[in-house]
Amino acid sequence: MTKRTLLFSYFLIFLFSLSAQTISITTDHVQLVLQVNSQKRLCQTYLGERLSEQTDLSQLSMPQAGLSSSTIRGLEAYPVMGTEDYYEPAFEIRHADGNPTSVLKYQQHSQQDNLTSISLRDEVYPVEVTLYYKTFPQEDVIQQWAEIRHEEKGKVYLGRYASSMLYFEAPNYYLTEFASDWAKEMQMQSGELQFGKKVVDSRLGTRANLMAQPFFEIGLGGPVREEEGTVLMGTLGWTGNFRFTFEVDNQHVLRVVSGINHDASTYLLGKGDVFRTADFFFTLAKGTGEGSRRFQRWMMNHQLRKAKDDRMTLLNNWENTYFDFNEEKLVALLGEAKDLGVDLFLLDDGWFGNKYPRRDDRAGLGDWQVTKDKLPQGIPYLVRKAKENGVAFGIWIEPEMVNPKSELAEKHPDWLIQLPSRDTYYFRNQQVLDLCNPKVQDFVFGVVDGLMKENPEIRFMKWDCNSPITNIYSPYLGEKQGNLYVDYVRGLYRVLDRVQEKYPDLYMMMCSGGGGRSDVTGLRYFTEFWCSDNTDPIERLFIQWGYSQFMPAKAMCAHVTEWNRRASIKFRVDVAFQGKLGFDIGLKDLSTSDRQYCREAIKEYKRLKDVIWSPNLYRLVSPYEGQHCVVQRVDDSKSHSIVFAYDIHPRYGENLPCTRLMGLDPAAKYRVKEICLMPGGQSHLPCHDKVYTGDYLMKVGIKVTSPDDLASHIIELRQE
Ligand code: DGJ
Repeated sequence: MTKRTLLFSYFLIFLFSLSAQTISITTDHVQLVLQVNSQKRLCQTYLGERLSEQTDLSQLSMPQAGLSSSTIRGLEAYPVMGTEDYYEPAFEIRHADGNPTSVLKYQQHSQQDNLTSISLRDEVYPVEVTLYYKTFPQEDVIQQWAEIRHEEKGKVYLGRYASSMLYFEAPNYYLTEFASDWAKEMQMQSGELQFGKKVVDSRLGTRANLMAQPFFEIGLGGPVREEEGTVLMGTLGWTGNFRFTFEVDNQHVLRVVSGINHDASTYLLGKGDVFRTADFFFTLAKGTGEGSRRFQRWMMNHQLRKAKDDRMTLLNNWENTYFDFNEEKLVALLGEAKDLGVDLFLLDDGWFGNKYPRRDDRAGLGDWQVTKDKLPQGIPYLVRKAKENGVAFGIWIEPEMVNPKSELAEKHPDWLIQLPSRDTYYFRNQQVLDLCNPKVQDFVFGVVDGLMKENPEIRFMKWDCNSPITNIYSPYLGEKQGNLYVDYVRGLYRVLDRVQEKYPDLYMMMCSGGGGRSDVTGLRYFTEFWCSDNTDPIERLFIQWGYSQFMPAKAMCAHVTEWNRRASIKFRVDVAFQGKLGFDIGLKDLSTSDRQYCREAIKEYKRLKDVIWSPNLYRLVSPYEGQHCVVQRVDDSKSHSIVFAYDIHPRYGENLPCTRLMGLDPAAKYRVKEICLMPGGQSHLPCHDKVYTGDYLMKVGIKVTSPDDLASHIIELRQE
């Protein structure tokens, strides 16, 4: 295109946008178009693949008028409760005079760099809503949030405050959701959405994602597929209660409403205060494979804390000792960490409490002083010993929680979330501190600060959170009890902001009794997260498959443990190899060759981690579809790739087809080598040490699965 025609088409777009008030929000491949109708209502007129000719926007039609010409039904970008729309609204506000309705009209918008803001106003009540759309063009991710403000005298309550409302029109819609439970995180389940509503939500507060994870995928026009079909992939960045509502209306339009869960959270908003909703992130991709690569790249480029920095392999003592340890045992484990060749030793739960020592999970939580008779020389001694062994030191905390049997609970009962006049319900014998209260925020920050001041060489913290919020009542909030779930998360973020600012070099694992906290905004503060307490490698294949839909490998802690001893150490290590590798196992209980395998695997992992952590993920064979699982990572230059292949329980006489690889350069030649063999072992894969073109590998493929129970193969491809 010449410069003149380019200028002319920009001019046309400009003229067009002036006349029709069209707001186009684009990434490299996705486009969302909003238009203002004659009643000044903001409507979605297009969401799909980016249009090639921007002048075609003039062809887009407004949603049809509803019951009368002055009303609109459907496709309003931020539909309100109580006026024309009959379906689940995004926004509901109860004005000071008790009126629960509003009508939001377009005022103005601005577009600068990658940020679009559109302000809407109720012309009857002084209420303003600003919608924000931030685009990440290369990753094709769009971020949406809203800010709500009013100038009313008296009490104004927000009943609903979604981050996003999107509409789709397709012959059918298939939802994939991620059900969860302790040790059963990210169970992918799919089904067709029929007329009516399907809600996926959480109302657990702190351990918010225990039962449902804040991710979804929707196949538009058919069930989601790995590399085909259009899929909407979305997630809410909020370390608390979330809610996705999928509603198919009477015209078979799908409405997707995403935001903080408003249940039990009618928010009392002060005059002039700004309520910022959570962030919703989405992409529209060709298959979940493309969507996952986009999300992982986006996480690595824009979201994950210290994404560009290295990560440390580690030895954790939790499953090794549980609460039963002393200095001697820990020093021995530090020696094992050195022997293994990991970067860090992580001391888990059980190191604190004196009046009520933390000997089990029934006491001591909240009292963050080292147990003197257990560790007489304190944490500084362990940090020193770690250093002598050439490993960094990390420590477990659970600073938002308290056992009633603790000095903290005795001293500050007013700091606990608990009902004033009812029996208290405990989850894992503990209660949640009231992070709405700034004094509690100071205390929680002080847990990290205290440890760091005493031990500036601590490199890593595992921040656990084992209880949901039970007994929902904040002594601090008084009449604003509806604000609890929201203000709690804001309080948590305030603490984490302070931690991040004061200790920018500290690595932190987000943990919640397994994967009970796993959202993308949490990962702005945490460098990694604990996917599940379930480290049975077979289960982990499914859990990792699930998280890999959105999360980068670098952030997914994967530890080798004793869960499922039927699986060889090689199989267990090879599964953990896909994530951020760690160990939580007694080395002395391993055979010499198993120990040797672990040592060599750690070396290989360190050599290969850049490609293992590459966002270019290709999920080739799904464990959900049979007895095997194969995934592949490719680096950005397409010169280096790793294939991870696992056989779970192959059927008798099963046909084992070649697996076609992906993401390679067809014209390049690759040497294929099976690596990570047991000491003295040999590869039996026919492709081992052979050279193939990328074209062959992607069209014909290679045999990487086997008929053996619980077998695994790690295969490296290098461009010659
Ligand atoms: C739950 C975590 O998921 C475990 O890894 C461990 O840290 C325990 N808490 C400690 O209580």
